[in-house]
Formats: sequence, C-alpha cells, structure tokens
Amino acid sequence: MHVVISDVDKVFGGTRVLKGCTLGLERGEVVSLLGPSGCGKTTLLRCLAGFLVPERGEIRIDGTDVTLVPPNRRRVGLVFQSYALFPHLSVFDNVAYGLTVRRCPRREIAERVREALALVALEGFAERFPAQLSGGQQQRVALARAFILEPEILLLDEPFNALDAKLRGTMQVELRKLVKRLGMTSIFVTHDQTEALTLSDRVAVMRDGIIQQLDHPLALYDTPSSDYVAGFIGTTNFVRREAREGHVALGGGLALPTAVQGPVQVVLRPENLRVRAVREGAAAPFTGKVTFVRPLGATVEYEIDAGADGTLRVVDLREALAPTFAEGADVAVVVRKPEACAILPGEPTR
Ligand SMILES: Nc1ncnc2c1ncn2[C@@H]1O[C@H](COP(=O)(O)OP(=O)(O)OP(=O)(O)O)[C@@H](O)[C@H]1O
Ligand SMILES: [Mg+2]
Repeated sequence: MHVVISDVDKVFGGTRVLKGCTLGLERGEVVSLLGPSGCGKTTLLRCLAGFLVPERGEIRIDGTDVTLVPPNRRRVGLVFQSYALFPHLSVFDNVAYGLTVRRCPRREIAERVREALALVALEGFAERFPAQLSGGQQQRVALARAFILEPEILLLDEPFNALDAKLRGTMQVELRKLVKRLGMTSIFVTHDQTEALTLSDRVAVMRDGIIQQLDHPLALYDTPSSDYVAGFIGTTNFVRREAREGHVALGGGLALPTAVQGPVQVVLRPENLRVRAVREGAAAPFTGKVTFVRPLGATVEYEIDAGADGTLRVVDLREALAPTFAEGADVAVVVRKPEACAILPGEPTR
C-alpha cells in the first residue's frame, strides 16, 4: 500500500472529531471521502498532509511512519477547500510559488509553469490576476499550483465547489483522466455523491468521524453495510420486516433467504421494482395507490402509497408507447430481482 492511515483519532477541545479512521490506498488509486458537512473530511486530509497531528493512530507513506513528519517533507499536495490564491500575484507567480520558495532556476520555473497551465487548459492566462478570473478558472490555477510540485499524493478538498454544474461535470472527468495518467495517488473530498462515483476507484462514506464503508462505487450501491450508506448512495426504499427461520417474508409469497434473525430492513432500489396492474388471484409483495407520476420518457417514476410500508419509489423502464399508470390508480408492485435486495439487520439508524 502507498498510503496507510491506521486507527486515527483527532480531538478538538475535548471532542473526538475523528474516531479510529482507517484507510489504505494503493499507488495510483483514487479514493473519495464522501460525507455530510462536519463529519471530519477536511480534518482527515489535514492529518494526512501533516498540518494536524492525530492524538492516536499512525500514518504511513511507502511503509514509513510519517505521523510526526512536517507537511513540506511528505511529498503530499493539498488543494484547499477555499483555494486561496494570492490576490496580489499573477497567475504565473501563483503557480510558480512553490518552486520559487524552493529556489528553483528561473528558466525551469518558466517551463514548468507553462506545462502546469497547459494541464488545466489555462495557457494564455499567465499574466492575469486572480480577481480577473472566474471562479472555475481560479480553481484550475489552484490545481496547477498543486500539480507543479509533482506530489506523489494529491489531496483535493472539494475542488469543484466554485464551478457551475456543467463545468463541474467536465472537470470531474478531466481531472480523473489527468491523475490516472500522471499516476498520482489521490484523495478527493466531496459531499456530492455523483462526483464521488465519477471520480473514484473506491469511495469512503464517512459519518460523524467514522469511515462507515470503503468500497467500489457499485459495491456500495449493491451491498451497503448500513442504512446510512444505502441512503447516501442513490435513492432507495427501506421496508421493515422480521427475519425468521432463514428468510424474510416480503409479502405475496415472496421470501428472501437470509442468515439474519430478528428485525431487518430490506433495501429495495427503485429500479429493482416494477408497477403492475392489480390482477385477481395474482399475489404481489406490495399493493397501493399511485400518488405521483413523473413521466420522464425512457423511464417513468412513481410514488406509491403502500400502506404500512410507507411510500415506495419505483423507476419503471418504459417500453415504447406503453401507457403509464395514472395518479390514483390501484397497483401492485413486484420485485424484479429478489436476490439483489440487500438485507440489513437491526432497527433503522438514519
Ligand atoms: N481547528 C478546529 N478547532 C475546533 N474544531 C474544529 C477545528 N477544525 C474542525 N473542527 C470541527 O471538527 C468537525 C469536523 O470538521 P471538518 O472541517 O473536518 O468537517 P468536513 O467534513 O470537512 O465538513 P465540510 O463538508 O463542511 O467541509 C466539525 O465539527 C468542526 O467544527
Ligand atoms: Mg471540509
């Protein structure tokens, strides 16, 4: 492993903000930290970069314990959440800053600044000042400033905050391609799930100072370890049941096998459900009334009041020209692939 964070605690004023965080990255791997505001994402990055010293646990880079090594000796580049360009310096001088401090020869600086600006598609902007740039351009200058030092490990704290949705989408794809090409081991912080899923080889879902699950994006979606993770990645329905004698009875004769006993939540993803007409004599796990229809074209989304099971959200793939169910219709809801439903033991924690 290139980077190993083991059992790290960080305490601020008596409050444990990180609680036993453990995270390992292979060389060249891109991992996202995903979690709500205040859960400890920036704090974990700052520990890894060396700006904070954890109260407990250790951080290893290439097998060497760097827990007490200062930031400038870690070969870690950090792009801050507020990208903090120097307002009185030109784009050139902002990007060159790290090399200037290191007393790099001027000719080499000029060449490397040119390369770094090309990398973020800002050739021709070298003479401007930050105030003369858009938010997205400033963000890219901050990226160039990190890239120019050729860090082995790149840490990006919400690097796309200032960008509009379209540029954000483009930059996500470009940045992923770029760090993969340069082979940089990278950690992105975000609270946007689409961004995390676009950028990363693996995603760490954080809550309240704890890494709840670290896994490949689709594994998080298909086999969440908790209702928190299931609810954080994509949309989902939770249905509460009691597991007995090796199975969970969903209704209408549908039983899901499980090793769990006692109360469970069954995770039903909207696209794993189908809406059907109620037919005499045909059993279905759920019946209810359509309360909302969103006719999107290729898919139709339904909200169905399923009585004691609450509101069920269904994303129905629509066959060409097929009629849809109207609001107020009585319908049955069936499960397409019962084996795809995750079963979570215990009561809800969300
Ligand atoms: N220097 C500090 N002193 C005291 N408390 C701090 C300090 N830095 C962070 N905290 C607290 O630690 C917790 C985690 O903060 P952190 O900045 O890591 O959250 P975050 O996940 O990055 O949130 P956001 O998405 O809003 O950036 C918060 O409750 C915050 O108030
Ligand atoms: Mg933060």
